[in-house]
Amino acid sequence: MSDFQPILTKHVGVPGSSTLDYYMAHEGYRAARRAVLEMSNDEIVQVVRESNLQGRGGAGFPAGVKWGFIPKESKKPKYLICNADESEPGTFKDRLLITHNPHQMIEGMIIASKAIDCHLAFIYIRGEFAREARLLEAALSECRANQVLGKGIFGSKYDLDILVHRGAGAYICGEEMALIESLEGKRGWPRIKPPFPAVEGYLRCPTIVNNVETLSNLPHIINEGAVWFRGIGATADSPGPKLYCLSGHVQRPGVYEAPMGTKLSHLIFTHAGGTPEGRKLKAVIPGGSSAPVLTAEEAEDLRMDFPSVQAAGSMLGSAGIIVMDETTDMVQACYNVARFYAHESCGQCTPCREGTTWLTKIFQRFTNGQGRMEDIDLILDVTDNIGGLIDFSRGSFGKTICPFGEAVAWPVRAFVEKFRAEFEAYQSQEAAA
Ligand SMILES: Cc1cc2nc3c(=O)[nH]c(=O)nc-3n(C[C@H](O)[C@H](O)[C@H](O)COP(=O)(O)O)c2cc1C
Ligand code: SF4
Repeated sequence: MSDFQPILTKHVGVPGSSTLDYYMAHEGYRAARRAVLEMSNDEIVQVVRESNLQGRGGAGFPAGVKWGFIPKESKKPKYLICNADESEPGTFKDRLLITHNPHQMIEGMIIASKAIDCHLAFIYIRGEFAREARLLEAALSECRANQVLGKGIFGSKYDLDILVHRGAGAYICGEEMALIESLEGKRGWPRIKPPFPAVEGYLRCPTIVNNVETLSNLPHIINEGAVWFRGIGATADSPGPKLYCLSGHVQRPGVYEAPMGTKLSHLIFTHAGGTPEGRKLKAVIPGGSSAPVLTAEEAEDLRMDFPSVQAAGSMLGSAGIIVMDETTDMVQACYNVARFYAHESCGQCTPCREGTTWLTKIFQRFTNGQGRMEDIDLILDVTDNIGGLIDFSRGSFGKTICPFGEAVAWPVRAFVEKFRAEFEAYQSQEAAA
């Protein structure tokens, strides 16, 4: 994998890379043109299905399979939504793609829209990304002025437009159902699934929600083929180029593109330059703050693809890798995670609304010297009541309407279980003080 050349980020940092002229000069829209003029919708779905492209938004669900759930017989309009909410702490890859190569993502959206017979698509972008939203508006205007969007794109009979919608800064609006509610102009509250959005999404019509990075892969899959894509990475079951976001205790934080399945240690120590001053690695969150933390031993040989990270008891998620060295106070780190989720809970479900608030109260007690040893088991009990045990085999988790419950319960649980001695030491120190 050492001779890997960046695919998705090839043009990052090149002046003018966000413009249509630049993109066209580098074979831009060749794949979309082919998809629109030469391929049937089913053929596009089939190629993407064969590529094994897994969604890069967090769950890793195969994109082609998801598209196949759109009921073809439905007379309702079909919608595509690009999820550019990117709210998961530790994640900052989608912004990079939007900033440096918005046309790659727009081209992916054209391909996906054609595949599902969508004529109006949306980009739901987080409110804080004001500059990126303006950049996207400019890119879409260029497309409309050049027959890349609008009526009869590329001289075909296929019409498509794409609109940008800015969110208002709520983490939960990254969850696809909350996102759809928000796009409809309502409060961003997740809906119970099923029905899944592919059957009943935006305005109760069939809707596909895909992540920025997922969509950015599509032009390359159409141009180079499914076999080429499956050949990138450690395993054909979870293939392709992958953007990994490295933050925390590393010397060179940033977004690194590498083949799926690259070893976590390679990403931390080679790409990101290792820990500051060569300090000992203590723990790693591999997939954004909702992914259970791994110890240094668990992280050492881990391949960063969906099945490998899951087998290690965590999630690749959004590939937001948060590195913690030996100086990290794991109790404070866990408190930080719990506090974020308490702030962001939408409040619909009692276990999530009350449980997250309860957790922060326990942590407050814990960290200001008023905690009790039994609080440690109480934290585990509360997390179990919010999100249950970490058990991927159950497939559908669920004591709550959306997976946010697990997103808070699992990481907090993992912190306590794996670093229990620190939680206990915290109490004894506080007691002694
Ligand atoms: C609480 C929560 C927050 C989420 N935030 C995001 C997000 O910011 N961006 C994103 O692409 N997906 C996010 N997701 C996943 C989406 O619900 C959805 O699965 C994804 O956008 C589908 O795209 P993909 O199949 O291309 O990965 C979130 C899910 C949950 C439960
Ligand atoms: S789990 Fe939490 S965020 Fe999700 S719907 Fe329930 S209250 Fe809202």
